[in-house]
Amino acid sequence: MPFPATRLRRLRINPLVRERLEETEVSPARLIAPLFVRPGRKERRPVASMPGQYQLSIDRLINEAGQLYSKGVASVLLFGIPLRKDPRGSDAYISNGIVQQAVRALKKSLPKLMVITDLCFCEYTDHGHCGILKGGELDNDATLKILAKAAVAQAKAGADIIAPSGMIDGMVRTIRAALDRAGFKNTLIMSYAAKYASAFYGPFRAAAESAPRSGDRTSYQMNPANAEEALREVALDIQEGADIVMVKPALAYLDIIRRVKEKFHVPVAAYNVSGEYAMVKAAAQNGWIDEARIIREILLSIRRAGADWIITYHARDYLR
Ligand code: PBG
Repeated sequence: MPFPATRLRRLRINPLVRERLEETEVSPARLIAPLFVRPGRKERRPVASMPGQYQLSIDRLINEAGQLYSKGVASVLLFGIPLRKDPRGSDAYISNGIVQQAVRALKKSLPKLMVITDLCFCEYTDHGHCGILKGGELDNDATLKILAKAAVAQAKAGADIIAPSGMIDGMVRTIRAALDRAGFKNTLIMSYAAKYASAFYGPFRAAAESAPRSGDRTSYQMNPANAEEALREVALDIQEGADIVMVKPALAYLDIIRRVKEKFHVPVAAYNVSGEYAMVKAAAQNGWIDEARIIREILLSIRRAGADWIITYHARDYLR
């Protein structure tokens, strides 16, 4: 056959064909919007480091979730900012904790909204670490006990999916057992299975007021240099009963998403985190990039890598 018998440009040149041959789609149903809930009424406090994101009181949270829902993003991931913090992060497990109240309110006004609750203590402890501290170190096994309590409190409030994010060894097994014992055998667990100790969480810590007072999270979150270890983390969490596994952050870890998906054949979520969002917003505000196209490209890349779900602060803007 003389050369241009095959012209791949033919597949691209006609927009009608080009559109109909897209291999990857980002439908709103694949997206999960993270939302921050705080006490009070009529509160909508902008997060400086994350333009377009707010700390919302429950009444405003319901508005926000309702708008997302009506546009097809019917899933939210909730983070709480409690009125009071203490060494054990007790607001995370009392029945009237901020997130438990928010879940009850959301489920009442939007029963078909899929509500996922982040399960961690860093927003609730006065020291800002993800569990109980002993001698300046995170006490893994003591933290498991309060994780179990908090998971049951969230399930009781009506959460569809519990998402433990603390990278505590044994957390999935402990939570699964506690949920089953309390009669919540159908409440799912989405584990932050491969969560890296990442600088990309910087803006979130301002949003959730959860930066550690001293030290960092390198003793529990993964080293960004490691990939094999991520597969071990995921394998363990699946064994312990995770229904969905998460890779976090997303963009600097697309290889991890791909490898997890290929190896385990389980539902995979990817967290397009605060720093990834803030960089896009900053460049867009300077007029340096075309924000809408960048967002689409980013979300496509995460889907192409193999993620079934994308947790993203861009959810709202993507719908526009
Ligand atoms: C809590 C938690 C963090 C994020 C989600 N859950 C912060 C952290 O580990 O410091 C980060 C989310 C983001 O950056 O968007 N452990």
